[in-house]
Amino acid sequence: MARIAECRDEDVAVLDVVLPSESATANHAQRYGRQCAGAGTYLIAWRDGRPVGTCEVRWDGCAAGEVRAVVGDCPEINGLFVWPESLRSQGIGTAFIRTAEDLARGRGVWRMGLGVGEDNVRAAALYRRLGYRPVTSYVDRYAHGDAEGVVQHVANPCTFMVSTLSSHRE
Ligand SMILES: CC(C)(COP(=O)(O)OP(=O)(O)OC[C@H]1O[C@@H](n2cnc3c(N)ncnc32)[C@H](O)[C@@H]1OP(=O)(O)O)[C@@H](O)C(=O)NCCC(=O)NCCS
Repeated sequence: MARIAECRDEDVAVLDVVLPSESATANHAQRYGRQCAGAGTYLIAWRDGRPVGTCEVRWDGCAAGEVRAVVGDCPEINGLFVWPESLRSQGIGTAFIRTAEDLARGRGVWRMGLGVGEDNVRAAALYRRLGYRPVTSYVDRYAHGDAEGVVQHVANPCTFMVSTLSSHRE
């Protein structure tokens, strides 16, 4: 199993080397910056001294207006990613989600949301199993730099899912 901890200043350079920088989910410095500003918590999974996954909790909620119109500032799990692929299906993604939910409980927040791409059937099934239910469709729009440093604009059709948290872990 992996150990999950909040990102520290010195982790950002390690993440940039180990977790694929061309990935749209990478942006480690930006996510850590949001944590420093109090808007997020950037969780990192570690195994044998190496980062093997990331998960940002955005306490100010999803940026998409379509989602905010329905769920307001419901906190959002964003950038959930386990790497390398050989480490998937070992419970790391589940551990991230449960850790994020525990952090929410600690803040007296009783719901958690996340967006999943409409083509990401397996991830959606995992979230459903963990108690998340679809609340609205939206288009996730963001920009990221590719391997050549060229800014790519993405518009990804997604479903936003929400779980109501009980006072203790299921
Ligand atoms: C989606 C993602 C984060 C899930 O992470 P993960 O670590 O593979 O998730 P888990 O291991 O907790 O659960 C995944 C599967 O393993 C199973 N599983 C969980 N713990 C397990 C264990 N101890 N032993 C065997 N299987 C286990 C789960 O039941 C689930 O079943 P599935 O294979 O039918 O889907 C990961 O697959 C990933 O990084 N995908 C690419 C990026 C992505 O799609 N991110 C999500 C964006 S919304």
